[in-house]
Amino acid sequence: MTQPLQLAERITSLKPSATVEMTERVRAARASGRKIIGLSSGDPNIDTDPRIIAAAERAMHDGDTHYGPAAGMPALREAIVAREARLSGAAYDPADIIVTPGGKFALLTALMAVVEPGDEVLVPAPGWVSYGPCVRLCGGTPVLFDMLDRIDSDRLQAAITPRTKAIIINSPVNPTGSVVPEEELRIVAEMAERHNLWIIFDQVYADLLHHGTFPYLQGIDGLRARTFVVDSMSKTFGMTGWRLGYLATPPGTAKAVLKLIQHSIYCVPGFVQAAGLAALGLYDEIVPAYRTTFQRRLVRAAARLNEIDGIVCEVPPATFYLFPSVDADDGAVARAWLEAIDVAVLPGSSFGEAGAGHLRLSVTCSDADLEEALSRIARTGLPKAA
Ligand SMILES: Cc1ncc(COP(=O)(O)O)c(C=O)c1O
Repeated sequence: MTQPLQLAERITSLKPSATVEMTERVRAARASGRKIIGLSSGDPNIDTDPRIIAAAERAMHDGDTHYGPAAGMPALREAIVAREARLSGAAYDPADIIVTPGGKFALLTALMAVVEPGDEVLVPAPGWVSYGPCVRLCGGTPVLFDMLDRIDSDRLQAAITPRTKAIIINSPVNPTGSVVPEEELRIVAEMAERHNLWIIFDQVYADLLHHGTFPYLQGIDGLRARTFVVDSMSKTFGMTGWRLGYLATPPGTAKAVLKLIQHSIYCVPGFVQAAGLAALGLYDEIVPAYRTTFQRRLVRAAARLNEIDGIVCEVPPATFYLFPSVDADDGAVARAWLEAIDVAVLPGSSFGEAGAGHLRLSVTCSDADLEEALSRIARTGLPKAA
């Protein structure tokens, strides 16, 4: 008798993404007629600028519907080099840039490039839900390091073993909206140099900095040689569904890494890249207004949340996320708000145990929906402990 067919352990052992699951739940509830207000999604309510859409249309009509260069369109890679020089000061060559279908695939590509089965990768906690699963997909083991308040040198050192191969740093941080300050990046740099680690720096929220300064790891002397930079058009330009991002690779590694792209996706569609090129060209015209909108909403929502007993909410310096602490079980609060008042938020613990006792709220819905959600939350407050 033949054995029942088995799916591979690398797939069956993965936990579903908490953020994607919540989005699906909200979608299903809406389809059944409930008016759920979503404060759970990392998808900003920005319609892609019509000029960006027109650029994609033009490219399609002009015949850009074939396979293209695996690393991406030369003009887009040059624009990314210019972007990096402006943001981080790092001087990349277009040959170091690989265009990817979103930041998530850039992350997976970087991990596939450096992780051997059995390697450990340091993953921030609380941190984005896909880091651990992507490490596992590459045969590695994610090892969480706590950075709720700050990156602490002793705590980081304690997480390092002879099997540690790489460290993932995300700034501005999803879910807290904080920015990792330069002195903490220097701790990471020193640790990476001492233990010869690769660094994967996820800067997908870099354009959503509201105040203060934003240091880049690849901008620190000597670090480019060990740092893969993950970036994306998704959050900055309201282009989540276009699936467009990039990986800036350490000098001399792109040619090898590119083989993964050649043998998997081959290339990002040319017309999507044409849209990305148009988006980068419109940056100064459109991005500051998006930033202003998110910042205004963050300030307003934090003020209203702080009026509620048991909730303490700081206004973060970046992103469109709030990460208030709640004097209750975070999972129970998220469930209660979804069931009782049709407001979807994420429990902080879905970003790792270090996030327990917090909620993540995204201010990515309309102003009117945000006001309505905040009024419902204010009326209901936190559920009483059973
Ligand atoms: C920290 C972080 N990195 C990367 C991504 C990937 O975004 P995308 O694949 O849409 O570019 C996200 C999306 O939520 C994120 O929050």
